[in-house]
Amino acid sequence: MTPPRRPGCALPRPFLDSIQAGTMATTYKDVPMYKNPFDLALYQRLLWQTKPRSLIEIGAKFGGSALWFADLLGRYGIDHTIHSIDIDDLPRPAIPGVTFHHGDGRNLGATLSPELLRALPRPLLVIEDADHRPATTLAVLRFFDAWLQPGEYIVVEDGIVDDLFDADRLATLDGGPRPAIEAFLAERGQDYEIDTALCDAYGVNMTWNVNGFLRRIA
Ligand SMILES: C[S@@+](CC[C@H](N)C(=O)[O-])C[C@H]1O[C@@H](n2cnc3c(N)ncnc32)[C@H](O)[C@@H]1O
Repeated sequence: MTPPRRPGCALPRPFLDSIQAGTMATTYKDVPMYKNPFDLALYQRLLWQTKPRSLIEIGAKFGGSALWFADLLGRYGIDHTIHSIDIDDLPRPAIPGVTFHHGDGRNLGATLSPELLRALPRPLLVIEDADHRPATTLAVLRFFDAWLQPGEYIVVEDGIVDDLFDADRLATLDGGPRPAIEAFLAERGQDYEIDTALCDAYGVNMTWNVNGFLRRIA
């Protein structure tokens, strides 16, 4: 059964547009990092709560988010390993503890071997921030379903596109990540829950990761 579709972001459209403009101009230590203030605050909370020893990010771009995650985990005293995967080879900083991989979210088995995954220190946190097309998001969710353990999270970024984009632009993303979250929860929802304490911390879905903070519960 398809789970009920939770509401989208409670922020009115003009604010979404201006926050998105600011997000696309955000840098961390001079490296572009496409995160908005809500999600920077929510990730700080998630990292402190879950203390991940391993973080896998799908969608590295210029490495700004990997750099920020590595710095934050270091400040929290968490011995960490980050694997950040991208289909494009872009210039990225060298960051202790971070390995950038060339890879495709739709074919993660070619990049992340069972040996690598089995050896990862736990807890694991996965962040899906690739092309925001449902086929990619669903492939990433299904891939990590075989690896995530109860208490661990997979975060699907940018379900905000439903609220942010008009119908034509949303169609260029085949509808964005939210249909993939819904399809995945219809398949596997008995073992996952949407963490509404995170999604709704600042108002209903005042996050770009709309209904996207998924916790494995069984
Ligand atoms: C939104 S950006 C990532 C932003 C970065 N995580 C941050 O917060 O600064 C999306 C990235 O996903 C990559 N990408 C697109 N499709 C992909 C795929 N199928 N597999 C892996 N990476 C992909 C793009 O090349 C791009 O660099």
